[in-house]
Order: sequence, then C-alpha cells, then structure tokens
Amino acid sequence: MKAESITIVIFGASGDLTKRKLIPALYSLYSKRRLPGIINIVGFGRTKMSVPEFRNLFQIKTAGGNKCKTPDRGKWSEFSERLFYFSGKYNSKEDFRSLSAYLDEVEKGNVHRLYYLATPPGAVTEIVGNMGKCGMTEEEKGWRRVIIEKPFGHDLSSARELNLTLHNILNEKQIYRIDHYLGKETVQNVLVLRFGNTIFEPIWNRNYIDHVQITMAESVDVGHRAGYYDKAGVLRDMFQNHMLQMLSLVAMEPPASFDADAIRNEKVKLFSALRPITANTVGSETVRAQYRGYLKTTGVDPESQTATYAALRLFIDNWRWNGVPFYLRSGKALKEKISEILIQFREPPHFMFPLSEGYKITANSLSLCVQPHEGIHLRFEAKVPDTAADMRSVNMDFHYAESFGSCTIPDAYERLLFDALQGDASLFTRSDGIEESWRLIDEIIKGWDMPEAPAMAEYEPNSWGPAEADLFMSRDGRKWVISCGGN
Ligand code: BG6
Repeated sequence: MKAESITIVIFGASGDLTKRKLIPALYSLYSKRRLPGIINIVGFGRTKMSVPEFRNLFQIKTAGGNKCKTPDRGKWSEFSERLFYFSGKYNSKEDFRSLSAYLDEVEKGNVHRLYYLATPPGAVTEIVGNMGKCGMTEEEKGWRRVIIEKPFGHDLSSARELNLTLHNILNEKQIYRIDHYLGKETVQNVLVLRFGNTIFEPIWNRNYIDHVQITMAESVDVGHRAGYYDKAGVLRDMFQNHMLQMLSLVAMEPPASFDADAIRNEKVKLFSALRPITANTVGSETVRAQYRGYLKTTGVDPESQTATYAALRLFIDNWRWNGVPFYLRSGKALKEKISEILIQFREPPHFMFPLSEGYKITANSLSLCVQPHEGIHLRFEAKVPDTAADMRSVNMDFHYAESFGSCTIPDAYERLLFDALQGDASLFTRSDGIEESWRLIDEIIKGWDMPEAPAMAEYEPNSWGPAEADLFMSRDGRKWVISCGGN
C-alpha cells in the first residue's frame, strides 16, 4: 500500500476557526508547495451548504493574501478547487457512513487522512466514536491522524475520560492535541535559545536566576464568548494549556533529542515537579480577579465567581529550580495584548563601585518577547560616560522583523498543520502531560471554592490588573514587569 495524497477533513468547517486560521494556513502551505501533489480538503458541519457555497466562504483577500504577499489569483483558484463540503450531524452514525462514502469517492484510492476537530469540546467523543464505528480511523489505506482543539477536558477527570475514550479508538500516535502557542515561532525559539547556544544554560538555574515572570495579557474582554468563558475562566482557558506549556519550555531539562517523545518526557517530568497549590496555600500563592463590568456581560451569570484574571506563584521542586519563584499572570480586558517571559537574574554578590547616593543597581534580565514585538532583550548595566562609575541599564535587542524580515513569521496554525501532516508530534501535547497540568489547575480551582480562598478582586478594564496582584509581588519585594512593550 502506498499513499501519496492527503485528505484533510475539517469538522466544524463552517466555524470561525476554519475561516480565520485553518484555510489561510492550508493555503499558505499550498502556495509554498509544502502540501503533497494531490490534496483534498473536505469540510464537514451541521450547516447545509453546497460545495460552491463552501468555497465562497473563503475569500482570496483574507485567506489567500496577507500584508506581505500580493494575492495570487491563479493559485487561489487552483487551491479553492480542492475544497469540498459535506453536511451532517456529529451524533449520526448514518451521516458518518455517508461521509465515509463521500471521502472514498473524492479520493479514489489509497490516501492518508488528517481529521481536524475544530468543534466545541462536547462533540469530540461523538465524532471520534462515529469515525471508529464507520472504520474511518483504520490505517489500511494510509495513515489516519486526528487533531483535537483545546479545551481538552474541563478538569482532570474529564480529561482522563476523554483520553480513555480516544484510546479505545485511536492509538496515542494518531492523536494530536493542539496548543496553538506551541506553534508560535517565539515559543519554539525558547528551546533554540536555551539549547542551541552555550552561554545561557550554565546560568539557567537557581544560582543565577532570582525569579521568572510569565505574562499573557489580553486587551479583549470576553465579548461574544461569554457563554463558554464563564464556565471556563482564566485558569482553564489560558493556564492549563498555554501558560504551563510556556513554563515547561523555560524550565524543563534538556531533552536528549528533538524527538517528540524525548521533549514530551521532559515536560511531564517538569509538570510533576511543580509544587501543588492546595486549599491551604491558595491564599498565599494565588490572586484571582474579575474586571469591572464582567458580571453585566450577556451570557455571564450575574453572581459568577469566574476569574478573568489570575496570578500564581509556582515553585518547581527539583535541583535546578529549588526556591526560585515562577510568577504567572494572565487576564482579559487588560491594558495591552502582550505575551512575554522575563528571566530576572540575581544582583551581583558584591559592589565594588562608588555609587552615587540613592543609586539602586538593576539586576540583569532577559526578556523573551512572544508577541506582538517578537524578539529578545538582554538588559545589563553600563557605565555612564564622563562619570566615575555611575551606571545605567541598557538593552541589547534582537527583533525578528529586523533580523529575518517582517514577513517571515508564519501563523502558528501553519506550522502545526504542517507538523501533523509530517507525523511530527513534538509541538503537540501528550495524554500524560495534559493530565499532569490538569492536576495542578484542579487543585487551585478546588481551593478557590474553599473558605480560605482569596476573595475575588476587581480591576478596571484597560488596566494592568488588580491592586492585589501588585501587593502579591511586593510582599516578595518584587514588581511585575512589562519589558517587551512598544519598541
Ligand atoms: C485561546 C483562548 O486559546 O487563546 C482565548 O481560548 C485567547 O481566550 C487566545 O484569547 C489567545 O491566543 P493569541 O494567539 O491571540 O494570544
């Protein structure tokens, strides 16, 4: 059996993700000739639509061109001819039988298949179950892989149950649990920075690092996603996945190879070394808050105790990180959209310079700017000219746009789709990693329901979060820092 062609089946094809991310990413791969010769993209969804209507959902302006590229009409029309659509219900075995027959008809032979579940989480079990019943996951005619969007479960027990259900039908190697943050160039670059250079790793530990901050601030509020968000909250929406994945890249031990399992083994080791935050410690290790006005949003329970902002202090109980706090914060309706990782180094152990009265030395820091000002800044002290030994902090900067050009960063989905097509799962999460991260988050959520929990704080939209989060840092003699902004 030899299969050269690929079919990508998108469940939830009439939805927003397909339009904004998946089709543009697939078109970009197509135009870079990174997809195989014969490719079919088959949308499946509840909305009734003909194939031409489906093709018309995607416009060359939005899907086929971006600020850097002039849309290529010829290539776009070639690509859009590869789009097909089949409507049906996720819970109908009959519809899956018909889909299976439709796919055979479109494919005419041995073809690999990538199934993308761009659907609400509740539909995953039904879809995979029906695919299993209709023989759509069997690999006689080519490989069969399934990409599953987040959220992966709602807590540890539902994630476990989902893993069990999936493992009844698919083997782990067929499952690609997506976390789009891992597809961002700047997030992947954390590993390159640490393990593709020699100068950082020797100081990447408790002897030189005072603390680490990870900020994922968003200026948007919950908007039309209130129905989902009010049940999820910031811990499930951002921490269980993106924040903990970024933490694992910053803190894990060097894997022996770039192999998916080697990387994921190290992540799981790291997650299992995270000190749990329990009902007893939730008051000192966390801050939770809602932005003013959240309770009045349509779709939000007026008595909701869902946090739209959280800050955590995490410790990693292992040799490298003992005693080093990792401060993580994320929230909606904040002042700016910015994601960054700050490595704050220790102060020099001894000062030999005659510093001016009141001068406070600034310890070195390394900022990994994830978005939107993608780059890296190293901050260090320099002598002010024409003084005896006055110092000032200066930055050594690297900006992706300057070094590589402003059009070189592909969208995260492009990289992830490409990797899944290649069978490379290094940027996807494995079942045990998901379960470990839920274990931590579950305990915090449980703690927040206890009487010892910190009260729900409030913050103004368009601010940097609640005053309680500043107090949380100042108790440790530290401050939140945004070091990647507007440069
Ligand atoms: C998603 C969350 O996973 O990530 C959203 O569900 C959030 O609430 C989004 O807005 C942030 O992603 P990005 O790539 O825009 O930073």
